Amino acid sequence: MTLQDLIDLKAKALAEAEGAADASALEAVRIEYLGRKGLLPKVMQALKDVPGEDKPMFGKTVNELKNELTELIRQKQAGFAGSGASGGEGFDLTQPGQWQALGTRHPITQITDRIIRIFQTLGFTVADGPDIETVWNNFDALNTPADHPSRDEQDTFYLDNGDLMRCHTSPVQVRYMMEHPPPVRIISPGRCYRRDTPDATHSANFHQVEGLFVDEQVSLADLKGTLSYFAKELMGPDVKVRFRPHFFPFTEPSVEVDFTCHVCHGKGCRVCKNSGWIEILGAGMVDPNVFQSVGYDPAKVTGFAFGMGIERITMILYGIHDIRNLYENDVRFLSQF
Ligand code: DAH
Repeated sequence: MTLQDLIDLKAKALAEAEGAADASALEAVRIEYLGRKGLLPKVMQALKDVPGEDKPMFGKTVNELKNELTELIRQKQAGFAGSGASGGEGFDLTQPGQWQALGTRHPITQITDRIIRIFQTLGFTVADGPDIETVWNNFDALNTPADHPSRDEQDTFYLDNGDLMRCHTSPVQVRYMMEHPPPVRIISPGRCYRRDTPDATHSANFHQVEGLFVDEQVSLADLKGTLSYFAKELMGPDVKVRFRPHFFPFTEPSVEVDFTCHVCHGKGCRVCKNSGWIEILGAGMVDPNVFQSVGYDPAKVTGFAFGMGIERITMILYGIHDIRNLYENDVRFLSQF
């Protein structure tokens, strides 16, 4: 067989496939050329007798024949199947279509991602920390006094080796600053653990997002601006933000931050207990003692930190009344979000 014979054969095969009038004619073409005893295997055998200089071109043309014919047959088969579907035998057009249920992401994951995205637009990056922490990272380095109630075994889960299950995401601040020099701009979502008896608003295992911003000359105005921006991105442009004096061991001054109630928009209703405000997060200026613990110079840098409960925000945004709904993995509940 010469190269020209092969080129002619290729044209003939494609023309036959193109001309096949129905599925069985097409199958006959397939068997004639591509079948185990068809022409193509024979052509492959002829390759060894082809003169040396023609060999590469011959091989290339055989491949083209095989690939183009296979693809053409596949396309025509699909076409025949399609026409069969609209009226051919054995196909019931009145059958309902096959429906594939789509999964949804868990509401906690959705809200966590939303919070992260808002802070990412401000240049924050995500930092991670382990659920099992040392007492030093979770309490000491965060300026928590030795007699602080949160250290109590009634509040915090301790392990036999003296470590604990972190009761907030704040130890990620400590870890991060120990490993990175300033400036710092991080956000850290994660699981936290407390010895709480489960009820509609408490769970022994919940989620927080921690934030930390450290640089030269960071002020309380930066904290207010950042968290006000966050509030508007999360709740919409009409939300108002209120900063109330508070106390946390790791910040000085400390604030609690309220947003206007998303249900009554500040007028007062059952959800906000008629106050018009909903408490959303804790924040403050990083205490110089914390900087000292991690080896930062409090004379050179200042910063703000904040922490918020993700369950609480999720429940507020979606109108969920019982935190336990979030952990029961009832698909009827989860698929609503
Ligand atoms: N760790 C606090 C808590 O669990 C939340 C918090 C408050 C975090 C103020 C902060 C902060 O970083 O500055 O309630």
